[in-house]
Amino acid sequence: MSTLIKNGRIITAEQDYTADIFIENDKITLIGTNLNNQANTVIDAKGKYVIPGGIDVHTHLDMPFGGTTSSDDFETGTKAAAFGGTTSIIDFAIQPKGGSMREGLETWMKKAKGKATIDYGFHMIITDLPDERLSEMDEMVEEGVTSFKLFLAYPGVLMVDDATIYKAMLQSKKNGALICMHAENGMVIDDIVQQMVKEGKLEPKYHALSRPAAAEGESTNRAIALAEMAGTPVYIVHLTCNDALTKVAVARKAGLPAFAETCPQYLYLSMDDISKPGFEGAKYVFSPPVREKWHQEKLWAGLQQNNLQVVSTDHCPFNYKGQKELGKDDFTKIPNGGPGLENRLHLTFQGGVNEGRFSVNRWVEINCTNPAKIFGMYPRKGTIAVGSYADIVIWDPDKEHTISAKTHHMNVDYSMYEGMKVKGDAEVVLSRGEVIVKDKKFLGKAGRGQFIKRDVFAGAWK
Ligand code: URP
Ligand code: ZN
Ligand code: ZN
Repeated sequence: MSTLIKNGRIITAEQDYTADIFIENDKITLIGTNLNNQANTVIDAKGKYVIPGGIDVHTHLDMPFGGTTSSDDFETGTKAAAFGGTTSIIDFAIQPKGGSMREGLETWMKKAKGKATIDYGFHMIITDLPDERLSEMDEMVEEGVTSFKLFLAYPGVLMVDDATIYKAMLQSKKNGALICMHAENGMVIDDIVQQMVKEGKLEPKYHALSRPAAAEGESTNRAIALAEMAGTPVYIVHLTCNDALTKVAVARKAGLPAFAETCPQYLYLSMDDISKPGFEGAKYVFSPPVREKWHQEKLWAGLQQNNLQVVSTDHCPFNYKGQKELGKDDFTKIPNGGPGLENRLHLTFQGGVNEGRFSVNRWVEINCTNPAKIFGMYPRKGTIAVGSYADIVIWDPDKEHTISAKTHHMNVDYSMYEGMKVKGDAEVVLSRGEVIVKDKKFLGKAGRGQFIKRDVFAGAWK
């Protein structure tokens, strides 16, 4: 199987030039001008951007959470991802409490097998780490699960104590894995929540009001300090606010290998959304929560200044009807999470490139290249180069569309960005050389996605 992409404007994190790309089977084998190689398929990309496939390193497909299960499985979720120009995801497998990491991995492998339409890897969520399980982290790394997430939030469910985090970091120092942290002070938050419930403050907005930005700032600082003590890098997931961002910025200025991602919901949504009348605000209940609007520009600046290196989605969809409604009379029962996997490239292109906050190269870097570098997939993925997988998006920078649940492909009954107009859309999407989206039609097959055995974090930071 061969494909020739003609006349596209190739954009990587570093380069921007016009050339042709020749693909044989799943890899790029030649890049040059005026290529005339015989190909099974020829795609004219004149006037379009040709970028590496997007990599979303934070998704929760088919995940039991908050008394229900996220509404996208590996088929619907990865299909939606492809429509939006994302060709690889890293989802989260969960170590069952008291059980082994292998059990967790097998459970999530089964969820993905036969369903995923694009490539997928896993982080392992550690829920329990007695000394006899430390070596399981090494086993995971051997399997290509080279990052672990630990929680400073959700006491009694996912939260672990500081010593556990420190131990996991020490183990990752030996095996090369990267520790990812959900940084919110869960104990203090739980206390505030109980107080709010006692006072009868039960509407959705109290979800955000019970989880102050300072609780994220404190935990971000703690996670970085623990990593400093252990002598390891640390990656802060779904960073939402200036309180946390300044902690990352100070650490990086001091030369510490601290990394962080933010998500489109924190760049676009705010207290105004969760405070909508009635139960509407439940659509915006996720953790950490939305913040006051002024934090958004700080996050954009974080992306500009490289204190934030990645945009992921934390895609964890629950239908408004029947799922979010579990918390109709009590915000503590609203399943935490929101949908976004399909719209990450749209929203960062709109706010970043169209609105002049950063270059197209930086847009590619935060959505494709840095995720690949930080999570052990580069240069197999995250760039356009000879020898790389042909995970390629032909992006029409002028195509306008209005985001809506009526037209999106995610299996969820609302959009957090309903009615938002964006310019720039994926026109053709190739995953390992196969055209899987073209002219708004899905051409891939369930089960074609492959497990990505990731390398260890190579210290490829800047
Ligand atoms: O509310 C969220 N973010 N749900 C998914 C779990 C997590 O903490 O990432
Ligand atoms: Zn989290
Ligand atoms: Zn998450």
